[in-house]
Amino acid sequence: MDEVKVGIVGLGNVGTGTLTILAENADQIALKLGFRLKVVAVCSRSVHSKELPAALEPLFKTTDWREVVTHPEVQIVAELVGGTGVASEVIEAAITNRKSVVTANKELMAACGPEIWDRAIRSGINLAMEASVCGGIPIHAVLREGISGDRVVALYGILNGTCNYMLTEMEKRDVPLAAVLAEAQLLGYAEADPSADIDGFDARSKLVLLAALAFGEKITPSDIFMEGIRRISPIDFRYARQLKHTIRLICGARKTPQGLILSVRPALIPTSTILAGVQGAYNAVWVKGKYGEDTFYYGWGAGALPTGVAVASDLMRVAREIRSGSPERVSPFAHERLGENVPIPVTKQKSAYYIRFRVEDRPGIIARLAGILAEKKISLEAVLQEPCDTKDDLPFVITVEPTSEQSVREAVDEMSQLDFMRDAPLAMPMETAL
Ligand SMILES: NC(=O)c1ccc[n+]([C@@H]2O[C@H](COP(=O)([O-])OP(=O)(O)OC[C@H]3O[C@@H](n4cnc5c(N)ncnc54)[C@H](OP(=O)(O)O)[C@@H]3O)[C@@H](O)[C@H]2O)c1
Repeated sequence: MDEVKVGIVGLGNVGTGTLTILAENADQIALKLGFRLKVVAVCSRSVHSKELPAALEPLFKTTDWREVVTHPEVQIVAELVGGTGVASEVIEAAITNRKSVVTANKELMAACGPEIWDRAIRSGINLAMEASVCGGIPIHAVLREGISGDRVVALYGILNGTCNYMLTEMEKRDVPLAAVLAEAQLLGYAEADPSADIDGFDARSKLVLLAALAFGEKITPSDIFMEGIRRISPIDFRYARQLKHTIRLICGARKTPQGLILSVRPALIPTSTILAGVQGAYNAVWVKGKYGEDTFYYGWGAGALPTGVAVASDLMRVAREIRSGSPERVSPFAHERLGENVPIPVTKQKSAYYIRFRVEDRPGIIARLAGILAEKKISLEAVLQEPCDTKDDLPFVITVEPTSEQSVREAVDEMSQLDFMRDAPLAMPMETAL
């Protein structure tokens, strides 16, 4: 039985998870493929101090990725380094050397996926990127093949497990964000610099890829409105509960008659919805199609082994294509804006909003705020105020009927100037469409 030979660059979480699966599951994989997948070369900066599965030996080990992409036996290079620096060079060199590529790199694919795919096609190799979004959920295959015959009208996802863990812990235990962030860092869910997760960058890269595949449109990170979870506090969960809602970092792509509205932002979602049940570090994607209606995908969004499964499965798919002499022919990315799904600014969104205030208590506050809302033609829906001991930092909430994001922003800007405001009001959409 001939083998297809693999080189792995990057032996961190995903690289080691992938090696474990390729070692432990080698016989099953060979049975399914009809031939063996053999790892022949591995690379990381500290490769010589790593403990690698004995079953994979003998292995060529190097700290220089160039020795993997030019290795005469390697047919597929798995780029598991991450980021847009070295990873980009690895992929570029692999394509130049006519090696097929499997990558888990959302950041790079979101920044220049269409160009990389074009080069892969011109070079006659295969390329796969399933692990780049929602690690353990095979969402690329779903959008690219499973439901590609439908016409997607909306896609909503919980795409960042770290944020979801933090928000659900705040919800369950009524503890502040700083405390759950420290715990998430101890558990290894959050990086020492948590910005990529909690400010929304990681989720935005993932939404670029999912929206591009779902809507067949060219999407770039700058098309997506992004707001992180730093301002969410336990009091928001208490008010949300009164409204029979909860709060999640929602990645949304929604078709409107004017175009596509794309956002990554904390939002209130009804507790009765399936997305509200997504707890802890899990990910989920909910897709609404014109014909097939609702489908829902759920699983681990990260982790060495769930993501390793996605990489191993991509390696199997690419190995099959290599064996059948079938290089990549069609890019999953659109190259032009097609018109119908052109991204439009989030300010055109219409939604009900939750606006949370922190004020120095004094008479007439509600009247002033109601006056500003009326000026902007925004209808007030409800005022909620939990009992509070302090008068100098009083939190309360106003919900408003569906209105444009533009009007809410103008109102919030004006309200921020009022002398009794302790803090700029926090406005979040209430997603009723879910
Ligand atoms: N972690 C997850 O659960 C997850 C889920 C889905 C997708 N992803 C994606 O998977 C990719 C890898 O993530 P990860 O979490 O496995 O990252 P990681 O733990 O930081 O591992 C990165 C690996 O790359 C190696 N590396 C860095 N620079 C290198 C260089 N110049 N030459 C050779 N090797 C180099 C590192 O070497 P050393 O070991 O020597 O430092 C390390 O082994 C990223 O694109 C990430 O977005 C990760």
